[in-house]
Amino acid sequence: MADTSRLRKPVIAGNWKMYKTQREARDFFAEFQPLVAAATHCEIVVAPTFTALAASVEAAKGSAIGIAAQDVYWASEGAFTGEVSPRMLVEAGCRAVIIGHSERRQFFGETDESANRKVKAAVAAGLTPILCVGELLAEREAGDTQSVLERQFRGSLAALTTAEFSRIIMAYEPVWAIGTGRTATPEIAAEAHKFLRDLAARSFSAKDAASLRILYGGSVKPENIKGLMAQAEIDGALVGGASLDARQFAAIVNY
Ligand code: PGA
Repeated sequence: MADTSRLRKPVIAGNWKMYKTQREARDFFAEFQPLVAAATHCEIVVAPTFTALAASVEAAKGSAIGIAAQDVYWASEGAFTGEVSPRMLVEAGCRAVIIGHSERRQFFGETDESANRKVKAAVAAGLTPILCVGELLAEREAGDTQSVLERQFRGSLAALTTAEFSRIIMAYEPVWAIGTGRTATPEIAAEAHKFLRDLAARSFSAKDAASLRILYGGSVKPENIKGLMAQAEIDGALVGGASLDARQFAAIVNY
């Protein structure tokens, strides 16, 4: 239901990770689109694999669903085997790109520095970066959550102008909640979001901080989305597993 009390328009984004062929993507959109056709209270984003991007853009044509990539490289072209550039994503029809996801950090050597370069290149190409940050379980248990978030925030957004910063979306994804069925409570998430927003105010401006959308990610399901969205600090969700099923993802969109 349209929630006009919100300052910021929510974003519900699906991260398909390494799931779905082109055919599966087309089947998903055929089922998903009618279920969210009336949803104007939020922006809807789906991030398929690189190979399913064009098919997804085609399938989502005429709808309000934006297609995002799951990663990008910072150079515009060159001898970088296996990489895809921002302008290639734009040409494929992408509007946004996930950057610095914890799986990229964990398994593929992503650092705050590489995420920073990617954020800048994405913004320069006209893409909206969805920059992910979040602490590991051991870091939370050691009481290091805020210092980890601050390090990731400063490192990944280093030397951005306020104009560049105003183009990004952030996602707070505590690593211990991703794919584990263990969601952060709405209160825990909201506390981290507030911390990030305060950092944004100190690093950029109060106005930019107030308009920054911060999504929560980590085991978001139809059953817990309402409670998360009841927090004023939570501006949407980055959904992994539950975004693979059209009905479940539609239920999250239509929270
Ligand atoms: P999950 O993944 O919803 O399956 O926990 C979230 C993410 O990794 O973006």
